[in-house]
Amino acid sequence: MSAPITALAPMQDVTDLAFMRTLARIDSLPDLFVTAYFRSTPTTCAIAEANLRCIEENQTGVPILAQLAGSEAAPLMRDAERLLQLPIAGINLNAGCPSPLVNRHGAGAGLLRDLPALRACLQGLRSVVPAGKFSVKCRTGWTTASEFPTILAEIAAAEPDMAMVHGRTRQDLYKPGTVQPETAQLAVNTLNCPVLGNGDITTLQQAHDWLNQVTPAGVMIGRGAVQNPYIFRQLHGGAAPTTDDMRRYFAVLTEETDRILHTKRTQAGHCNRMKKYLAFCYGYFTPEQEYALRRCTNISDMQRILSGVTLSADSDKPVK
Ligand SMILES: Cc1cc2nc3c(=O)[nH]c(=O)nc-3n(C[C@H](O)[C@H](O)[C@H](O)COP(=O)(O)O)c2cc1C
Repeated sequence: MSAPITALAPMQDVTDLAFMRTLARIDSLPDLFVTAYFRSTPTTCAIAEANLRCIEENQTGVPILAQLAGSEAAPLMRDAERLLQLPIAGINLNAGCPSPLVNRHGAGAGLLRDLPALRACLQGLRSVVPAGKFSVKCRTGWTTASEFPTILAEIAAAEPDMAMVHGRTRQDLYKPGTVQPETAQLAVNTLNCPVLGNGDITTLQQAHDWLNQVTPAGVMIGRGAVQNPYIFRQLHGGAAPTTDDMRRYFAVLTEETDRILHTKRTQAGHCNRMKKYLAFCYGYFTPEQEYALRRCTNISDMQRILSGVTLSADSDKPVK
């Protein structure tokens, strides 16, 4: 059996170019990146500059999928063809985003409660995306996971080349304790393609549990990878992070954030960008440090606090 695939989950404004470059510099790369979604509507494809940069300036060597969110086949097909001109490894359809703004227009998880629209989008994209390059990222239903078998039948009919299953429904949002790995198991049994499991994987042990019991083809990790970016190194057989590793992570992330901001950089802007990542890392800090980090508007002050991070003895535990 081939080695499981490790993928970084797309997170708008978080798993950006600076974060991808940081993973490369700390030698903890996944096997696959996915951009945050490009919003595709009849009038326009919102070519978000930050997502484009992940594709065009991604010199990490890791293949990257461009993700599209939309509710109509024609615009999705148009934008997929456009994105396929770029150095991407494929197109990923977003059928999981729970944002009311996106769902109101039937996109993201909105596709899960409109099966004809889901079918049209899947079939349309399948018809323009070359073999080996089409994947779908989905939740397990709009309201309950009992919807998943019919959703899966639509996905199976489009014969995607890969699926990523976030084991929650739209109604679950991101509530702790709501991930149901067994629903991803259903996808493994139904689809004729690799299925990556996703949802609340924050430790090496949890990743191994998914791989051993649910999705042997691979795992996709989002918030857990921002909290512990060394999880990919660990999944490839490397060591758990030390305190020095975590200090290096925050130092490199600060440098790479500075680099992507470039001429747009201001002290407060740099701190605000850093807070997008730190939102998943406050568990490493004391309440006083967290308070100071949340209010920081000066990058030297932020660096001073970040460089004092200290790991507890057992770092393979969720910190929060
Ligand atoms: C801030 C944030 C932004 C996200 N943006 C996207 C996105 O653009 N596309 C997408 O498919 N999922 C997005 N997600 C969902 C994640 O990819 C992932 O499915 C979810 O966080 C569960 O995995 P995790 O527990 O490993 O983080 C986002 C999640 C968060 C928290």
